[in-house]
Amino acid sequence: MSIKDAAQAVMKKAVQAAPDGWMPGGTPDPLIRQKHGLIGKPVSRLDGPQKVSGTARFAAEFPMENMVYAALKYSTVAKGRIKELDSAAAEAAPGVVLVMTYRNAPRMKPAPLFMSSDKAAGGDDLPIMQDEEIHWNGQPISLVLAEAQEQADYAKSLIRVTYETEPSVTVFEDAKANAEQGVFQGQPLLLEIGDAEASLAAAPHKVDVVYRTPRHSHNAIELHAATVGWDGDNLRVHDASQGVAHGAWSLAQVFGLEEAQVHVTSPYVGGGFGSKALWQHQILAAAASKVAGRPVRIMLSREGVYRIVGGRTLTEQRVAIGAQADGSFDALIQTGMVAMGRHNNMPEPFILPAMSAYKSGSFKLAVEAAKMDMLANTFMRAPGEAVGTFALESAVDELAESLGMDPIELRIRNEPEKDPTSGVPFSSRHIVEAYKAGAERFGWAARKAKPGTHREGEWLLGMGCATATYPYYRMPGGAARITLTKDGRATVEIAAHEMGMGTATTQTMVTADRLGLGMECVTVNYGDSHFPGVVLAGGSQQTASIGASVIAAHRELITELLKLAGKDSPLAGLDADEVTGRDGYLCKADELGRRESYVSMMARIGRDEITAEATAPPPLEFTHWSMHSHGAMFCEVRVNAVTGETRVTRFLGYFDCGRILNPKTAASQFRGGIIMGLGLALMEETQFDERNGRVMNPSLAEYHVPVQMDVPEIDVIWTDIPDAHAPMGAHGVGEIGITGVGAAVANAIFNATGKRVRDLPITLDKMM
Ligand code: MOS
Repeated sequence: MSIKDAAQAVMKKAVQAAPDGWMPGGTPDPLIRQKHGLIGKPVSRLDGPQKVSGTARFAAEFPMENMVYAALKYSTVAKGRIKELDSAAAEAAPGVVLVMTYRNAPRMKPAPLFMSSDKAAGGDDLPIMQDEEIHWNGQPISLVLAEAQEQADYAKSLIRVTYETEPSVTVFEDAKANAEQGVFQGQPLLLEIGDAEASLAAAPHKVDVVYRTPRHSHNAIELHAATVGWDGDNLRVHDASQGVAHGAWSLAQVFGLEEAQVHVTSPYVGGGFGSKALWQHQILAAAASKVAGRPVRIMLSREGVYRIVGGRTLTEQRVAIGAQADGSFDALIQTGMVAMGRHNNMPEPFILPAMSAYKSGSFKLAVEAAKMDMLANTFMRAPGEAVGTFALESAVDELAESLGMDPIELRIRNEPEKDPTSGVPFSSRHIVEAYKAGAERFGWAARKAKPGTHREGEWLLGMGCATATYPYYRMPGGAARITLTKDGRATVEIAAHEMGMGTATTQTMVTADRLGLGMECVTVNYGDSHFPGVVLAGGSQQTASIGASVIAAHRELITELLKLAGKDSPLAGLDADEVTGRDGYLCKADELGRRESYVSMMARIGRDEITAEATAPPPLEFTHWSMHSHGAMFCEVRVNAVTGETRVTRFLGYFDCGRILNPKTAASQFRGGIIMGLGLALMEETQFDERNGRVMNPSLAEYHVPVQMDVPEIDVIWTDIPDAHAPMGAHGVGEIGITGVGAAVANAIFNATGKRVRDLPITLDKMM
């Protein structure tokens, strides 16, 4: 049987195995089985023309009457107190409207942590410009408002400040002494099954090594920005946000308002990656606007993003694997330490991949967090998995090398039948197929098993692979509203986000298919805190969250429509589960000829529009199934034997992420993730001065990310096997692309040169 036939057979089985729907005991989602319509068609982004023509308005592009511009001044010490702050010259500078400091800022409560206080949380809950205290090097100590941005920037340079410093912990080695157990989403990052250390000691084959990954800073193309204004006690915020509902709720907490008094919108976002949350800049802008009585625009400088928007923290990870001669794992250990800000709770959960990647006789997985006086660290594309897979998948490669076994074969031999640590069945996992088909497509057979033996002139060639993995999430709180109008058009409203991923386009396709309407008849409105639902664009879960919400609202709408259409409709007596939408008609599902058009139904009812709103069911699928996106990553490199320079020449990501709804936007997510992974592997590093806690390279000139010439041909492909237990059969595609890339590159470099680098990024000095 060919790989393709095998994949098709698996797909058939998966689709047939969905008798009770995508939720335990729930209703089947007809789109899981759907073979016609828009799903799977490559549709270009609907917002493309607005973006390329410059008419799409981003947060810092909304005009407000009588608006002033803000600039922030940042502390230069890690801990202590402001001793003197002289703002007289700044206040007298041209165009200056306000210099706000702790002395004249309005009283505000700390912001709740991003993603609720008792769960994994980015951001911090520190006081915001309320006193003299300094908590990290880079903390905003003053905000200047002026008639022009340049005037605000100049005036802030005139502020004179001195500090009384206090002892601070800015050295990671020192911080380890006060390390605490990491907690993520309310669960301790600690898992032990059997006696892994004893099994490791007894195993005939083993690796036991330490890997390190550095701090990473967020570098979305769009700088963090907001345009804010007050109308009495109502606050209006044009934000760049991946959580408008959370932003509005948090701002209400800070200013002591009702949530409805804060209106946050964010129609376009130039990249988020976990960073486009509520940080001090939106809060300070709103506070200054209140004091000055004028609307305020704030856009952080690139340096400003490094100073006040948290990034990914560093990790130090021990990975030890004990194995039999046939490669089967007796022990899998991944433990270690991360640095964490004192006032947040986001211990980079690097053990998550190891919880379900391989079967093993025993497990020991743990993350400890060492508290430091530094900016709160936060979510960054595949928090945990991006760096966790670097260590785990490098170690698997090291074990394969010492066993003299092909690394793909070693992985397949340790493929679990069910989740190896929870014991729950996988909802959908076809990673072996992805490896086999990927190896064939990439030409893995041409790889030289012996490292350092493939040379062309100065260049050493090598290939490496690694597993990509990211959980399927669906957060509670999803809700949506659908309005059907008498002309047979539908509008969806949901407090969700479009950060450039193509969400709005894909959800338009899906909703159009669900209703049986053309895409031109469906509008999806999002990015508005006044819309229903709390839908975070994070955790690669937005598609599932919107999907589940729209399924619920659609069901309400059809139920209402059938009820109101009454006895004279050809559909009389049918309920929502018995009908399906097709070509502008509602049809009996198993008798498509029995139908009535939406236009006719609306005329019969005699209403201009019908609106239905519903809440997504609670995410119970997790209690029944272990759900993940998967992928097999393949990398080819050339390493220069003279200079140590690495060039990635080819990359393939073979993904298993359920049904791919829109191949065009999904491929772009996969490729973008892989490119970000190349940065993680080869160049990204936030330089943190351990003497004073200051970030030393706060600019794209000194913090390197891949540019055009660093990115080779990237091939992406997918199994497209629907998961019967996910809305629309789809898993998330946003974060999986960055996972596994670090290890695939490191493993390829080892294969090329025989040199194992366990410390990211793999810069040329480490190859010498
Ligand atoms: Mo992502 S780090 O969940 O925006």
